[in-house]
Amino acid sequence: MKIPFIHHKHSEESIHISEDHIPEHIAIIMDGNGRWAQKRGMPRVAGHKEGMSTVVNIVKAAVKYKVKVLTLYTFSTENWKRPKTEVDTILKLPKQFLHIYLPDLMANNVRIGTIGDIEHLPAHSREAVQYAVNRTRDNNGLQLNFALNYGGRQEILNAMKELFADINDAKLSLDDVDEQTFSGYLYTTGLPDPDLLIRTGGEKRLSNYLPWQFAYTEFWFTDVLWPDFSEKEFIQALEEYGQRKRRFGGL
Ligand code: IPE
Ligand code: IPE
Ligand code: MG
Repeated sequence: MKIPFIHHKHSEESIHISEDHIPEHIAIIMDGNGRWAQKRGMPRVAGHKEGMSTVVNIVKAAVKYKVKVLTLYTFSTENWKRPKTEVDTILKLPKQFLHIYLPDLMANNVRIGTIGDIEHLPAHSREAVQYAVNRTRDNNGLQLNFALNYGGRQEILNAMKELFADINDAKLSLDDVDEQTFSGYLYTTGLPDPDLLIRTGGEKRLSNYLPWQFAYTEFWFTDVLWPDFSEKEFIQALEEYGQRKRRFGGL
């Protein structure tokens, strides 16, 4: 069934695209927290804290517009290069976030997942996230993935190593390895590739995010810093996505 427009009674926002043009999977690079804080004369970590409310707002918007998968770049394998105090603060946020918002996420039928090298996170982050993953595993609404200690090249190398191990153990034959088999070794196994990437904060690069999965993704960039990003800009991205013609190499 084709629904022409989605209008929401309880919101001032309305979205001018048909429901079948809503991206199934949206990936976001939530950038600009540090600059947001520095502009206000506050320490960078204040920006990361403020960014948590944007996460909540955008998750709610994703639920509202029936996005199926939302994958948020939360901490990259390269972010370990930052000063230890900043890294420590960022890695405490998942626990703080889930402590406050897990009941809300449950009530919205959100299912939480992770991509990245979770094993090498501090125990407090890893355990908080694993608890939330277990707690929400039977939900069947929005799939919300946190990319935590995620690096795209590391993901591909890891996949390759596991694949070689399976070939060595004769669980798999080299002749049978195709794109689908390979995708099955990535953190995103079972998920559709992102239809839309949103990057806030003005930079126009991927920063090692989902290099394999982005082969045919539509990109949308904004200068708005993540703590200032709102449903309004989210809708703008959805509307622009709705106008794009995806050809996948065809005509
Ligand atoms: C993005 O904001 C959040 C993380 C990388 C964890 P930044 O901290 O990169 O903010 P800017 O880019 O320095 O403003
Ligand atoms: C990308 O932002 C990582 C996250 C948002 C978690 P960065 O701020 O780390 O990216 P670069 O360093 O500007 O490329
Ligand atoms: Mg940044």
